[in-house]
Amino acid sequence: MSAKTIIAPSVLSADFSRLGGEVETVCRAGADWIHLDVMDGHFVPNITFGPPVIKAIRNRTDKVFDCHLMIAPADPFLGAFADAGCDIITVHAEATSHLDRSLQAIRDLGCKAGVSLNPSTPETVIEYVLDRLDLILLMTVNPGFGGQAFIPSVVEKVRRVKSMIGSRPIHIEIDGGVTPETAPLVAAAGADVLVAGSAVFKGGNEEAYAKNIAAIRAASDGAMKKAA
Ligand code: DX5
Ligand code: ZN
Repeated sequence: MSAKTIIAPSVLSADFSRLGGEVETVCRAGADWIHLDVMDGHFVPNITFGPPVIKAIRNRTDKVFDCHLMIAPADPFLGAFADAGCDIITVHAEATSHLDRSLQAIRDLGCKAGVSLNPSTPETVIEYVLDRLDLILLMTVNPGFGGQAFIPSVVEKVRRVKSMIGSRPIHIEIDGGVTPETAPLVAAAGADVLVAGSAVFKGGNEEAYAKNIAAIRAASDGAMKKAA
């Protein structure tokens, strides 16, 4: 949807002991959005953070807070994430029994609504909710951990989703194993938002983050132009 790739660093790979500072640093280094991976130890085999932590870092930047909920159930907590300052709230199709209702609830809270699909989930599950969506997050790893290898079969799913959404203003976001090597594959297939955790935060300082973000951006913008 965007003419240029939106880069959304996942703070999952940041130094949690100084999270607010890391958010400020990665924003100065060129992040477009901040991706927040919320895990519950039930839907995914890992636990991260929730609304109070998000609220605590909200005043560190005006950038979009892109909240990826890997929790089941999600509906009882949507209000708390909206109150914490999330701009986009994404739920997993696999984690909610009533996806249509969850998406309506997110928009009713004044947030943009996203749905995420695990690598094995077919894109057909979102066919009838397209008009309720602002973003589709396609997982290119099994959710739960940073630093995993990109699953290439999802590239074909990106193409199919791109053709399904037609002219609707819906972002296609990719999450998992994004690097300067894998970014062009998904950008050429139609993705316009790239989440990257380990590939952005490696190096541990602003100069490294800026270099890492620039490398992903250059690789994906080039592929996007070729695809257009
Ligand atoms: C995985 C998370 C991702 C993860 C990406 O469940 O949703 O956002 O942090 O990390 P990398 O970029 O290291 O694969
Ligand atoms: Zn994520």
